[in-house]
Amino acid sequence: MSTFWSMWISVIALGSIFGLCWLLHATRKSQTNTTETTETTGHSYDGIQEYDNPLPRWWLYLFWGTIVFALIYLVLYPGLGKFQGLLGWSSANQYEREVEVANSTYGPLYAELAAKPIEELATDPKAIKMGQRLFATECSVCHGSAATGSLGFPDLTDDDWLYGGDPDTLKTTITVGRRAMMPARGMMGNLTDAEITQVAAFTRSLSGLSVDPAAAEAGKEIFYGKGSCTTCHGQDAKGIQAMGAPNLTDNVWLYGNSQQQVEFTIRNGRSGEMPAFGETLSPEKIHLLAAYVYSLSNKQ
Ligand code: HEC
Ligand code: HEC
Repeated sequence: MSTFWSMWISVIALGSIFGLCWLLHATRKSQTNTTETTETTGHSYDGIQEYDNPLPRWWLYLFWGTIVFALIYLVLYPGLGKFQGLLGWSSANQYEREVEVANSTYGPLYAELAAKPIEELATDPKAIKMGQRLFATECSVCHGSAATGSLGFPDLTDDDWLYGGDPDTLKTTITVGRRAMMPARGMMGNLTDAEITQVAAFTRSLSGLSVDPAAAEAGKEIFYGKGSCTTCHGQDAKGIQAMGAPNLTDNVWLYGNSQQQVEFTIRNGRSGEMPAFGETLSPEKIHLLAAYVYSLSNKQ
C-alpha cells in the first residue's frame, strides 16, 4: 500500500470517528434536557408530528461506547492504512498459527497411520473415520457422499475398476489424476450413424441387455473390425486398465446403458477427468484416502 492510500484510509477512518464525536457533542444541549416534552420539531408528515426529545441515555452511552471500542481496536489491530496494530495480528499469521497447532496435534497421528500398509488401515476404524472425513471434503462433490458416483463419476464402492483397485493404483489415481480418452466414432472416427447403432447394440448385448439380434450381429463385425474397439477395450471386451478403458461385458455403466446413451458415447467420445491431488494434499492424507476407498470394496 502506498503512503498516499495509507494516509487516505487513516484520515477517512479517524475523520469519521471524530466527526461522530463532534455530532454527539454538538447536539448535547437537547441531551442534557432529560425530561420528556410535548414540544415538537415542527415537522409534520401527513399530519404526523415529531417530538423534540433527547436521545435515550442508554442509547447515548452505547454510542460513546462503540466509539471508544473503535479507537481501542484501531490501536491494537491493523486498520489504519499501513499501521500494523500493537498486537501485530494478521489473518496470515493467525492462519499459520492454526496450521501449526493442527500439525502438532495431527502430525504424529498422520505419520503413524501413513507408516502402515493400506490393507491394514482399511480394517482400522480410526483410519477409516479420518479417511471418510477427508473424502467428504475433497471427493464427495463428484463421487457422492457415499462414494457411489453418478453419471460420468465412477462408483468407488463396487469392485469394478477403470484403472485398478489395488492400493498402489489407487494412490497413483489420486496423486496424479486420470484423463480417459474414448475416441468419437471408433479409432478412425469413421463410423456412420447406422454403424454406430449396430455397434452400440452389440456392446449392450455383451452385458446381457436385450437388443435387436440382427443389429448386434452386424455390430460385432464393426467392434472387431473398422471400429477397432478391441485396441482399448481388449479382445474379450473386458477392458484394459492401463488405458482406463472399461469392461464392457459387465452391466456396470459409467455413462448409462440405454441404446441412446451408448450411441451417444460412441458418436461423441468420452473423456472423463479425475483431478490430481498430489499438489494440494499431503502424501499422508492421500494414503488415508486410498485406504478409505480400498475399504469400500474390500469388506471383510
Ligand atoms: C472434479 C470431480 C472429481 C473429484 C473432486 C474427484 N474425482 Fe475421482 N474421478 C472423477 C472422474 C470423472 C473419474 C473417472 C475418470 C475416467 O472417466 O476415466 C474419477 C475416477 C476416480 C478413481 C478411479 C476409479 C476406477 O474405477 O479406477 C478413483 C479411485 C477416484 N476417482 C478417487 C477419488 C478420490 C479419493 C477423490 C478425492 C481426493 C476424488 N476421486 C475426487 C472425478 C472426480
Ligand atoms: C483409444 C481407446 C478406445 C477405443 C478405440 C475405444 N474406446 Fe470405448 N472407451 C475408452 C475409454 C478410455 C473409455 C472410458 C471413458 C471415460 O471414462 O470417460 C471408454 C468408454 C466406452 C464406453 C462407455 C462405457 C460405460 O461404462 O459407460 C463404451 C460404451 C465404449 N467405450 C464403447 C466403445 C466402442 C463400441 C468402441 C469401438 C467403436 C470403443 N469404445 C473404442 C477407450 C476406447
